[in-house]
Amino acid sequence: MTDSIKDLTGTRDDNQRELIMIVDDSISNLKIAKNALSDAFDVLTVLSAAKMFELLKRTIPDIILLDIEMPDMDGYEAIGILKASARTRDIPVIFLTGRGDAESELKGLNLGAADYVAKPFMPALMRKRVQVHLTAESQKHMLEEQANILTAQERMLLDFNDNLMKMVDEKTAKVVELQDTMLYTVANLVESRDDVTGKHIERTERWLSLLIDAACDAGVYTDQITSWDIPLLLRSSQLHDVGKISVSDRILKKPGPLTAEEFSEIKKHATFGVRIIERMESKTTESDFLRYAKILAGTHHEKWDGSGYPDGRGGRDIPLPGRFMALADVYDALTSERPYKRPYPHEKAVGIIMSEKETHFDPALVDIFMRVESRIKEENEFNRAMYGKEPIPGEESIPSEEASFGDDPSKDDGPPRAGAGFDSTPSTMNAAF
Ligand SMILES: [Fe+2]
Ligand SMILES: [Fe+2]
Repeated sequence: MTDSIKDLTGTRDDNQRELIMIVDDSISNLKIAKNALSDAFDVLTVLSAAKMFELLKRTIPDIILLDIEMPDMDGYEAIGILKASARTRDIPVIFLTGRGDAESELKGLNLGAADYVAKPFMPALMRKRVQVHLTAESQKHMLEEQANILTAQERMLLDFNDNLMKMVDEKTAKVVELQDTMLYTVANLVESRDDVTGKHIERTERWLSLLIDAACDAGVYTDQITSWDIPLLLRSSQLHDVGKISVSDRILKKPGPLTAEEFSEIKKHATFGVRIIERMESKTTESDFLRYAKILAGTHHEKWDGSGYPDGRGGRDIPLPGRFMALADVYDALTSERPYKRPYPHEKAVGIIMSEKETHFDPALVDIFMRVESRIKEENEFNRAMYGKEPIPGEESIPSEEASFGDDPSKDDGPPRAGAGFDSTPSTMNAAF
């Protein structure tokens, strides 16, 4: 028995009254219930649970009043099926019962019933109960909708944040790419002009990287190193000799001995480097990336005992990146081909560096160098085998005068010739460039 089905498609507009489905095998009970509710609600009455399920395929009521004692399928079984289906589990169910005992009520509530209405029905009470549950249900829906709106807004915000982060990342990557290109171009310009150094810039960057890694492993200066942007520092090291751009070709490429004046001229490349980088800084708003370049260019020829240049700073007054750079730079100078010498063997370079611990170099960094020297040797020998000239087999084969200029890294770090009035001992003491 069905009295009305407002919408068999299951969709009802907001202006429609709530739809109550009453399921009871007693026609007289259905009539009483319908009379109690039809003034305020649309009412659908059915005589069995099976019929209810048939109708539920076509419409979803706002509430079901379900008799417990019915033939074939009772209310307990019916509510179990209702609650097991995603389509019907949220429909509030009020049990209609003549039992009135606490145990039956508890069983029904445990199965998911929203409430109980005892038979015989009191129309006013039934209306009130139904109204209370419909109000509660509508408030629940409102809250759910608000939660959904909030979730949607949160999702939009998260998406927005994601997109913003992506844009920032892309922008940052472009800036870094531009910086890299600029550093690479300028560094290559310097190296190609001072063409005898051959990959000096690339190698010193590598030695610097190995030294910094080794210091971290050994826990030396880690408090400072952890605050560095190491990739940026390494890239910036390519500019350590940028000041050579301001040194004349005549001096830079002079194959013979340098005069004292020429030597002091070439030493100016450290100060020139700082000035060039400062000019670059003044032309860009993104100058932060040049901060290491300036330190390295200006301090890579300072010495631990204060006898270096351009400022004669000593000990820890020399910025740590500059102390690292000094080691990387001199090691590469010693083991490189220069106009005045063939490359020193690794062991000889190590010996010279050791002998200048605490004079030229930070002693703690020389210890670090010793921890990683075999790795440096391996890579350096591989590089030489691939791209460079073999080192001389031993110091005794170097003419003594040559040896005095031995670590002249194409006027990078090497001592000038004895004839030019400088110390003739093979060492980094005269590492001028
Ligand atoms: Fe250098
Ligand atoms: Fe230099």
